[in-house]
Amino acid sequence: MKQMKFCRDRRPTSVLWLALLVVICAAAFCGDASAADDDKPYVDQQYPDFGFLPPSKQYKGPVFTLSQKYPKVEPDKSLKPSFLEIDFQKKWREYLLGAQEYCFQENVLGGDFADDFDAAKRTQPTWFHVPWQHYGPNGREGVHGLTKEAPVQPQQLAISQTYKGGQMYAVGLYNIFGGYTIGKVWADKQHPKMKDIHFPVGTVVMKVLFTDVPSEQVPSLTNPLKWNAYVTENYDSTNRVFNDMTLIQMDLMVRDDRAPHGWVFGNYQYNGKMNNKNKWKNLVPVGIQWGNDPEVNDGTWGEYSNPVPVVTRRNPHLKQTIINPDDAELPPTHLGWNGRLNGPADNYLSSCMSCHMTAQAPARSPSSPLFLVAPEKIPDVGSKDWMRWFQNLNCGDRFDNDNTTSPTDFSLQLSISLQNYIDWRDSGNKTSASKYRLENTDEDADPLSEIRRTR
Ligand code: HEC
Repeated sequence: MKQMKFCRDRRPTSVLWLALLVVICAAAFCGDASAADDDKPYVDQQYPDFGFLPPSKQYKGPVFTLSQKYPKVEPDKSLKPSFLEIDFQKKWREYLLGAQEYCFQENVLGGDFADDFDAAKRTQPTWFHVPWQHYGPNGREGVHGLTKEAPVQPQQLAISQTYKGGQMYAVGLYNIFGGYTIGKVWADKQHPKMKDIHFPVGTVVMKVLFTDVPSEQVPSLTNPLKWNAYVTENYDSTNRVFNDMTLIQMDLMVRDDRAPHGWVFGNYQYNGKMNNKNKWKNLVPVGIQWGNDPEVNDGTWGEYSNPVPVVTRRNPHLKQTIINPDDAELPPTHLGWNGRLNGPADNYLSSCMSCHMTAQAPARSPSSPLFLVAPEKIPDVGSKDWMRWFQNLNCGDRFDNDNTTSPTDFSLQLSISLQNYIDWRDSGNKTSASKYRLENTDEDADPLSEIRRTR
């Protein structure tokens, strides 16, 4: 069985010389050959597609492929999505629906829902994944490319939800503008470029989230959209099983030059009562955010934070978050701290921008003060130290005043991918997953077995 090593180029030197000769000849005979090559997408990195695949006895269906033919040249401005012309503050709903339409256009095919969001299937992909998310116990599974994201507490999704040990899994995609930046960062797999990471205006990132909480326990998950995936038995387990996962949320980030800090965040929640034939459209707008509202600090826990959502509580003092006011459309839901934007999967004491502006590699401060390792260091909710996570940073700014880390422009997938790479490199474990294919699914021939054993 073939095993690919990341740190070594296994091509024989003679092939390299031959390649060099061909390039020199090509350059000599047709002057612009190398310029033409610069236009071609990156196709030679071959980052591993995933870290976990059900054994072939259990699963014989399609296998997830990482969309990694990142464009080498910054896409022309004419490719910018047209919803970027909508005023996101005055017409927040049109903006969110326009963005959703844009995300669905090339990813929702109109057939079996299980075939959707399979970006690598196109001959010339226009949406891209972040590499290096296969690594570690939360790494990508091989059916839909989902990564393990967060636990779900009882009653987090609805008062009737008693299920314990629930978890969220998700897969994110970047449009062609975002793919250009991922390609630049990961152009050289042995030396990722961590400095000066900036996503161009027009970057759209979307992520769909699925839960293993039984859909019968959550009224808004009636008429569910389900994907089968190879996930852990429950949040605390590392043992993978083949399980039904229910769509619950969609996240959006848009690099919009009208946003005061560079990015617009959007969120959608599944409401099966909408009963759309295209079930992806049951994802109804929760709201939009373009800042952290650093002045809003309503008490300690804040009456709006609402961890067990019987009703949705909207905070009228917020100026940089707008929440969908329509209770007939939006199921009862918790939001973020003090009512800032967050989705049902997210922490009720955090918020989209609060978490995302901490993105840096190597990691320093956690994405929420609640995740500080030493419990005595966790600041009081609403204190001055707590509010450090609710300041307004501009895109590309560094959260920690420590220039050994590089900001990843609010992208947590990029920061995680770089951190995974650093961990792998520093662990001295030089084995990595080769491109994982169905024929390799025996436990014995599992190219990841060494990584699994060392975990
Ligand atoms: C407590 C932290 C936290 C909060 C709150 C949070 N996120 Fe994230 N988000 C993450 C992490 C960690 C990732 C990367 C992991 C992954 O996607 O596999 C991520 C990934 C994403 C991605 C994929 C692009 C990227 O950054 O890598 C999008 C889009 C996104 N989140 C949007 C949102 C939106 C919109 C909200 C609010 C509704 C939100 N997030 C709230 C932690 C958070």
